Amino acid sequence: MCGIVAYVGEKDAYEVLIKGLKRLEYRGYDSAGIAMIDNPGEFLHYKCKGKVSNLEEFIGEQSKKGSIGIGHTRWATHGPANDVNAHPHVSGDGKLALIHNGIIENYDVLKKELGKRGHEFKSDTDTEVLIHLIEEVKKNEAVSLFEAVRLALNEVIGAYAIVVIDKDNPRELIAAKKSSPLVIGMGDDDFYIGSDATPIVEYTNNVVYLEDGEIAHVSLDTGLKIKQLDNQEITPSIQELQIKLEALEKGGYEHFMLKEIFEQPKTIMDCMRGRVNAQKGHVSLGGISEYKDKILAAPRIIIIACGTSWHAGLVGEYLIEDLARIPVEVEYASEFRYRNPIINENDIVLAISQSGETADTLAAIKLAKEKGATILGICNVVGSTISRETHAGSYTHAGPEVGVASTKAFTAQVTVLSLLALMLAKEKGAVEASKLNRLLFELESIPEKVEEALKTDGICRFIADIYMNASNALYLGRGSSFPVALEGALKLKEISYIHAEGYPAAEMKHGPIALIDEEMPVFVVATKGASYEKVLSNIQEVKARKGKVIVISSKGDETIREMADHYIEIPHTEDMFIPLLATIPFQLLSYHIAVMRECNVDQPRNLAKSVTVE
Ligand code: G6P
Repeated sequence: MCGIVAYVGEKDAYEVLIKGLKRLEYRGYDSAGIAMIDNPGEFLHYKCKGKVSNLEEFIGEQSKKGSIGIGHTRWATHGPANDVNAHPHVSGDGKLALIHNGIIENYDVLKKELGKRGHEFKSDTDTEVLIHLIEEVKKNEAVSLFEAVRLALNEVIGAYAIVVIDKDNPRELIAAKKSSPLVIGMGDDDFYIGSDATPIVEYTNNVVYLEDGEIAHVSLDTGLKIKQLDNQEITPSIQELQIKLEALEKGGYEHFMLKEIFEQPKTIMDCMRGRVNAQKGHVSLGGISEYKDKILAAPRIIIIACGTSWHAGLVGEYLIEDLARIPVEVEYASEFRYRNPIINENDIVLAISQSGETADTLAAIKLAKEKGATILGICNVVGSTISRETHAGSYTHAGPEVGVASTKAFTAQVTVLSLLALMLAKEKGAVEASKLNRLLFELESIPEKVEEALKTDGICRFIADIYMNASNALYLGRGSSFPVALEGALKLKEISYIHAEGYPAAEMKHGPIALIDEEMPVFVVATKGASYEKVLSNIQEVKARKGKVIVISSKGDETIREMADHYIEIPHTEDMFIPLLATIPFQLLSYHIAVMRECNVDQPRNLAKSVTVE
């Protein structure tokens, strides 16, 4: 949520900042800005409402010189998205400039205090208050900028990732973080800073992840020094980045979302690599396996997550309860953390997060940790905060997901949960060897079947054309296809702004059925399996009310072909793996509808990829 990029070195800072902001735009895109120093004592400071391309247009032929600078792309928290509220913000004396991700919770108190001391504010943001506070401390204490930032942050309550520059000193950046990620890239003779590694990877693979409560002094003269808020010095630990630049490019696709949808056969395969071997009857998640006895002995597993990851969690509940017979509860992290939940030392808390940075999930982890539970994680972003806060975990290995609407991360999360359920079932002896074997072979064939499911692209586009102007849509499924329905509805509303509801098929008659008329498309997962017959009855109920029924069915299902207004056939698979296949047409349908409605698919309005505020 909000993107940060900063540079100091010999290169043209503008190039690094603009390129970086474009890569970061998926984190926030309601305004953007940069501040650079060309001649010491003077800022080149440009910011405006809208996307990074608006900023470029706005800068036009104005000076872009300088080899130090900071850039920001914003997702508004305090104050509307406009030119004034865009970052960077400057101090009252105009000497310092700051970019900030997060929320300063006590900004109001600080603002009043600073107001009494003569500070005047131009914007509605908490960020401007912070730079005035740093200015005030620097002046009063007569200390360096590094020290002033440290002292100021000791007065701050809230979350932040910040970078500050001083127009009189074009050779240093000061950065700090608490509950919002910040990465420092170590070039040969220059430094890069990003709210994630995407603006850095093009230049260097060596990075230092700042930890909570750390402040970095990044200087061309003295190198990188890190201190904690209490003034203790820390030795930076340099790590190697795993992501590749190609993964951040569209690779010939029109949108990142489409590229990521089509990557799924590979990402699911990558996620399973080394973890399953049906021939040998092997299934294991290396990162978690040392905790398997603890999991098997646990009275329950509590899954916490937000958004699409929460839907993956719901699929996980079906899988783990069905196969391993361990009770599972799935909670929205944001609700869980505020309702004084009962958590015991023997409980296993499993956090699922693509970004590994979602503020509510992180806070829920901290709460569960305090209560003594064992915390496991399923994350996509390697080295992310959640992956570091958990006792153990498994990565999804889906590669960077740039489209704001999650696709390949979801199927990778469901794959890890399938592996987990199978591993636990095997260890517990909860399923017969022959069934386990059948399931392992079937899981290995899923990437191929996803490839086949992707061939529904044409029919999805055809159906999208028919329903692109719908105002509402209903998604129905039963069992583990219920979360698929939720995810289908979420995808549609996220990127095409059509109101959509996901419902358990049988619950429809307790409410949503009242909405059905000839205008209403109803998308139903009705694959052959446990509740097939029941879903057929639900389809009849929709048809009786003249609703339009679009069914995801198993290949060759004649009954559905006759019953449905449209059908999208996916390959046969075991019930438990249906979510991995049935999700694909829903992703494609939403994608095509959004494109036809001329919506911004990769950067839908008001949303952000990584939600680092509560
Ligand atoms: C945001 C994103 C969603 C994502 C959710 C949870 O809302 O737009 O795509 O599912 O956050 O994010 P996480 O990174 O924790 O999976």
